[in-house]
Amino acid sequence: MNKKIIEFLKNQPILYAESDDAFWDDEHISKHMLAAHLDPDCDSASRKQAGIIASVNWISELCGGSEKKKLLDLGCGPGIYAELLAEKGFQVTGIDFSKRSINYAIDSSNKKHLNITYHYQNYLHINYDEEFDVAILIYCDFGVLSPENRSILLRKTYRALKPGGILILDAFNEPYVKSFEEIQNISYQPGGFWAAEPYALIQRNHYYRESRNTLEQYLVITENNCKCYNIWNQIYTQDMFAKEVTEAVFETVSFFDDVQGKEYTCLANTICGVFRKPGIETR
Ligand SMILES: C[S@@+](CC[C@H](N)C(=O)[O-])C[C@H]1O[C@@H](n2cnc3c(N)ncnc32)[C@H](O)[C@@H]1O
Repeated sequence: MNKKIIEFLKNQPILYAESDDAFWDDEHISKHMLAAHLDPDCDSASRKQAGIIASVNWISELCGGSEKKKLLDLGCGPGIYAELLAEKGFQVTGIDFSKRSINYAIDSSNKKHLNITYHYQNYLHINYDEEFDVAILIYCDFGVLSPENRSILLRKTYRALKPGGILILDAFNEPYVKSFEEIQNISYQPGGFWAAEPYALIQRNHYYRESRNTLEQYLVITENNCKCYNIWNQIYTQDMFAKEVTEAVFETVSFFDDVQGKEYTCLANTICGVFRKPGIETR
């Protein structure tokens, strides 16, 4: 364990080095994540509720209405977007690999008598064939994936969409880097977000300038264990974003500052891309 701490402090990991554990599906961490998702005033797991409502309205407008439209929500979490989109009339399928979130989502949609299909699944493993009119991956989760996994996701989503179907993705944009602090600090927690038992937490943020990647690292040291969690992100320019997605044979429709349809200025922390699978428009 000491060796692991020394290695952590000595070296920056190679790009997209994996975490020791998939924290979204961790029995303890997922409880705190779900609470964060469900807090309408917290934007650590989902955006704040007012922003989510604005996004759902914009997505519906962008799709020319929702009637009979099939929408695939990749990384749907506890179904906050999925429910609002279903209430608008979309036929929603949500995919997430947090068992706790998916169970919550199923239970909530049953209670509200909403007809949403949920799957506890890694979205890199989906296998749909020309089923959906729209696919969304919201909250800058695209850049969390390694370039290889982004390419898999784009390929699978392309296949899942009908010809003319649209893909809506958001990502971090260059101005975000200004607010990203390269820090290294240590704290003691009597039990909290990362573990139920007392732990020491070393948090380190690093920016990989050449490749434009941010890394937030959390080393969680409990009495008998030491786990490292790496949260990566890719910072995009408009050109990089367009190039990557069009290489997967999508056409670019338009860019926006956010998933609420704000005109693209390149000055916001985020960029939202709307892409189309070539073919007949489904709207
Ligand atoms: C930051 S949250 C955003 C959730 C939702 N899109 C929102 O904005 O409310 C990311 C979600 O994606 C899920 N997720 C991350 N990687 C995934 C993968 N490879 N397959 C399925 N779900 C994934 C996580 O479990 C989590 O619920």
